[in-house]
Amino acid sequence: SSAPVTDPFGRSISYLRVSVTDRCDMRCVYCMAEDMVFLPRAEVLSFEEMQRLCGAFIRSGVRRMRITGGEPLVRRGVVEFMSELGLWLGRGEGECGLDELTLTTNGSRLTEFAEGLYEAGVRRINVSLDTLDAQRFKAVTRVGSLDRTLDGIAHARAAGLAVRINTVAMRGVNEDEFDELISWCGRIGADLCLIETMPMGDTGEDRTDRYLPLSLVRSRLAARWTLQEIGYRTGGPARYVRIGETGRRLGFITPMTHNFCESCNRVRLNCTGTLYMCLGQDDAADLREPLRRGASDDDLMHEIRLAIARKPKGHDFIIGRRQDTVGVARHMSATGG
Ligand code: GTP
Ligand code: 5AD
Ligand code: SF4
Repeated sequence: SSAPVTDPFGRSISYLRVSVTDRCDMRCVYCMAEDMVFLPRAEVLSFEEMQRLCGAFIRSGVRRMRITGGEPLVRRGVVEFMSELGLWLGRGEGECGLDELTLTTNGSRLTEFAEGLYEAGVRRINVSLDTLDAQRFKAVTRVGSLDRTLDGIAHARAAGLAVRINTVAMRGVNEDEFDELISWCGRIGADLCLIETMPMGDTGEDRTDRYLPLSLVRSRLAARWTLQEIGYRTGGPARYVRIGETGRRLGFITPMTHNFCESCNRVRLNCTGTLYMCLGQDDAADLREPLRRGASDDDLMHEIRLAIARKPKGHDFIIGRRQDTVGVARHMSATGG
């Protein structure tokens, strides 16, 4: 077995986010531009190639993997890819292997794929949903269908998957809906996680006017709901409370008002084999080049080590005035968060 690789700030990198495609069947206003240009297919790794890189990460001490996109379920063969990754689950403590395999999705194809995901070994998924109002849903996703997403979520619950709803908090868009989302999550048996907008990529929209600090939201919610402190952590950036009235968890992801980089445990691989050491920085390492040059597993592990040694201290996102203050050039969809 292998202890996780540590970075120059002493953080153990035990978590890998794997983006299998930059494409998506939606165009959320905080994530993509309306006229997104996608990566040419020749740039994209085959699942076989991805599998080799994932294996090298697991041998380098990664214990948790989250599959992301774009929208991961739009890529053909992704569930089969995940089934293969699932073979790393449930190994002994002293062995290399995965403790958890998860997915972040917009839910549009869960009706079809929820059962297969469960069979692949997935037990918990995060589904993006910013509003329960069909018109607002169209305004936020530009092209998505609320009904399809809701049906997908229902199928995920029926298949036995634990669901966390991800809601990006937007001033003047969905800030009046958090009570309703909390109640609805209570009814369907899902957790909810509110997320502060991060300035990534030019989306053709002004994020400044939509930015809503979660410190404010939390005090508003505390006036209406019983928020109980709980120690629950998944190793990710969310900080959770339990809602007394529903019994479900409510998470807050607050990169803007409360930086959590100090406890970061992750790096992210995109679908071309580019490894981003930080969500909030553009520095990256190319793993495709050594992979296609015929590198051995040991060589790949060496490249991973070198990359992690470059992991920066954290992001320096600022929500400033309009698009001239884009924090990071690439879009959120390039790595799926
Ligand atoms: P787990 O850690 O596996 O529980 O999930 P998660 O919250 O990391 O995953 P998810 O894909 O649902 O992401 C939710 C939000 O967290 C997205 O907006 C991500 O961009 C954001 N996020 C995830 N990791 C990081 C991180 O390291 N830094 C920052 N700033 N945001 C992150
Ligand atoms: N800021 C914060 N969260 C974002 N997401 C997409 N773009 C942004 C952004 N600019 C969220 C999606 C999804 C998760 C992967 O990232 O809502 O749930
Ligand atoms: Fe697609 Fe997710 Fe980005 Fe929305 S946030 S455009 S669903 S990748």
